[in-house]
Amino acid sequence: MAFDLSMFRTKSVDALLKDSQEGSHKLHRVLGPIDVTMIGIGAIIGAGIFAMIGEAAVGASSGYPAGPALILSFLITSIACGFTALCYAELAAMVPISGSAYTYAYATMGELVAWIIGWDLIIEYAIGNVAVAISWSGYFNDFLKTLTGLEIPFWLRTDYRTFVQRGFELASAPHLLGFPVVFNLPAVAIVAFLTVILVIGVKESSRFNDVMVAFKLAILALFIGVGFYYFKIENWTPFAPGGWKGVQVGAATVFFAYIGFDAVSTVAEETKDPKRDMPLGILGSLAVCTVLYILVTIALTGMMPFGELRNKITEPLVAGLEYNHASRWIVGLVSFGAVVANTAVLLVFQMGQPRIFFAMSRDGLLPQYFARVHPRFKTPHVTTIWTGVAVAVLAAFCNLDEMANLCNIGTLFAFVLVCVGVIILRVKDPDRPRPFKVPFGVLFPVLGILFCLFLMLGLGWVTWLRFKLWLLAGLIIYVLYGNKHSRLRAASGGSR
Ligand code: ALA
Repeated sequence: MAFDLSMFRTKSVDALLKDSQEGSHKLHRVLGPIDVTMIGIGAIIGAGIFAMIGEAAVGASSGYPAGPALILSFLITSIACGFTALCYAELAAMVPISGSAYTYAYATMGELVAWIIGWDLIIEYAIGNVAVAISWSGYFNDFLKTLTGLEIPFWLRTDYRTFVQRGFELASAPHLLGFPVVFNLPAVAIVAFLTVILVIGVKESSRFNDVMVAFKLAILALFIGVGFYYFKIENWTPFAPGGWKGVQVGAATVFFAYIGFDAVSTVAEETKDPKRDMPLGILGSLAVCTVLYILVTIALTGMMPFGELRNKITEPLVAGLEYNHASRWIVGLVSFGAVVANTAVLLVFQMGQPRIFFAMSRDGLLPQYFARVHPRFKTPHVTTIWTGVAVAVLAAFCNLDEMANLCNIGTLFAFVLVCVGVIILRVKDPDRPRPFKVPFGVLFPVLGILFCLFLMLGLGWVTWLRFKLWLLAGLIIYVLYGNKHSRLRAASGGSR
């Protein structure tokens, strides 16, 4: 038998903290509270608000439009994320270590669950970034077109499936050794560029992030102003064309727009005062984005009948502006804003994913090779480069909606486990100092679990199937590798 009950071994919070202080595995503490909040906002505002709200309002693939009731969808999702954010803040302040939900699970629910979460977070960070890179590419092309009148050929900025769905013949694409060449070059290029920046260093990357965050906040504020100017109350009739189901499916779809506040916790080891800065960064960035999203949705659904979005479903904000014949420079600015926003999201998630691999490999669940820190730049360069390669290759050939939905289900599952983790740690380790504590006992963690499950049920069966297959693959890898090489297992005498 390859594994036994020792897979439920937990790593104590003290052991986690000690490991993170070991010489060759130590990261530089350079980030302050503003940097951390900006990292959160950088991760949150992206393809979700700039692209996915179109699909949520119209329900083109699900058949359940949210319509103007998308405002309610956003409210529901923000409540779910609010409860979870509180839980993340409690854990991140108490266990301020790189690795996010993975680390918390190790301390609370044991190694197997920790591995499952770590494996699941790949869906959130890497697969989510595949979706964002694809969206980046679409907006980049639009921006280029507005600016110069030139377009990148479609076969060079999309995947096979979308190419065929849009009515293009594969025969019309160039051929290499008899095969049609269709792939997303801009998506590959942006991922490669950001990977180089991240290998060079986190402080430099965080400055770059600040500039992009400021810009995207300004662009969304501009859109809200213009949208309110064109607002007509009759556009809110019918308000909920897809009924309650439309609102639920819409909430599950726009969940993508909220993903990212949890990424703040992955830089805990690089934060100067994590006990104060983690709760500030997580809750602050979520609050700012929630207010903005609700305002953007009110503006968008009030400035045009939602059905008109169907023609430009992946660029809904531009659709709203064009419907009202807003000036060309505003359309151009918003398109450029989408490019910048997606770049910021890519940057934060490309930064987060390697740090999770890093934590897993430090624990022996992945090969030690992945825990290397660059001697000069002090960054986890090995995992950064591998993440870049994997995301770039997938972004070259995959479809936006499928990747975003897979990312949603994986992230919601991780959120559920984080809420469970808070409850377990309250029972197991009640006396440990909690610089930040979720109020009202375990009520909010329980509500967080229920809300996240409700959102998961809004996702289609294909997404569920893909997710289950992914978890199964992870389980097999754990049995074949992680369970045998775990440092915790070695420390406890490999209890067989
Ligand atoms: N929340 C991120 C986005 O919307 C993933 O792009």
